[in-house]
Amino acid sequence: MDNHIFSGQPELVSVADKSHLLSHRGIVIWMTGYSGAGKTTLAYHLEKRLHDEGILTAVLDGDVLRQGINAGLGFSLSDRRENIRRTAELAKQLASCGIVVICSLITPTNELRALAEDIIGQERFVLYHIATPLSVCEERDVKGFYAKARQGEIKEFTGITNPFEEPKNALYAINPSTLTIQESVAIMFDDIFPLLAI
Ligand code: ADX
Repeated sequence: MDNHIFSGQPELVSVADKSHLLSHRGIVIWMTGYSGAGKTTLAYHLEKRLHDEGILTAVLDGDVLRQGINAGLGFSLSDRRENIRRTAELAKQLASCGIVVICSLITPTNELRALAEDIIGQERFVLYHIATPLSVCEERDVKGFYAKARQGEIKEFTGITNPFEEPKNALYAINPSTLTIQESVAIMFDDIFPLLAI
């Protein structure tokens, strides 16, 4: 069942009508994992693969959103919750237009993942654990944040001074540190493509 919010106006175009226009369902692929796990890279490469198959996509990336609709939010648990809440609300709206939305946000706790799922609706929510080990993320330290977090220059850093819980309910998991990007995307595409049939 699709979630509808009562606006007082009759709905003239249904979620199903929009999916039929695009010939695929709208779902949300929610990627959880450490900073530096490769979520953003995989999100954009998966988007490209889906796009090449004629699927309308959108990427909602934590770093990008934090410069826009989520600007001003920090990394306390309550700010992370608001970050996830807003992003999930946006993803829900886009998915109800038939769009395949790929969200790449750390989403460090099971409570936050459950919040996203509650907002989006279980039937549209696919949790994907991008399971690059913390040791690999820290060793690569692409943005230099792990070194700063170890030196105390960045507070509340996920995996160092803030928790990252092992995802309990991820439908899929992948460890991209042992694969090429192309291999990872091929696996993810095969997982996800069957879910898009209308
Ligand atoms: S989430 O925890 O609220 O889901 P989100 O994915 O939006 O996080 O943002 C994470 C990004 O913010 C990281 O990739 C990193 O670039 C940056 N960042 C800055 N400070 C922190 C911090 N204290 N903990 C984690 N990431 C941080």
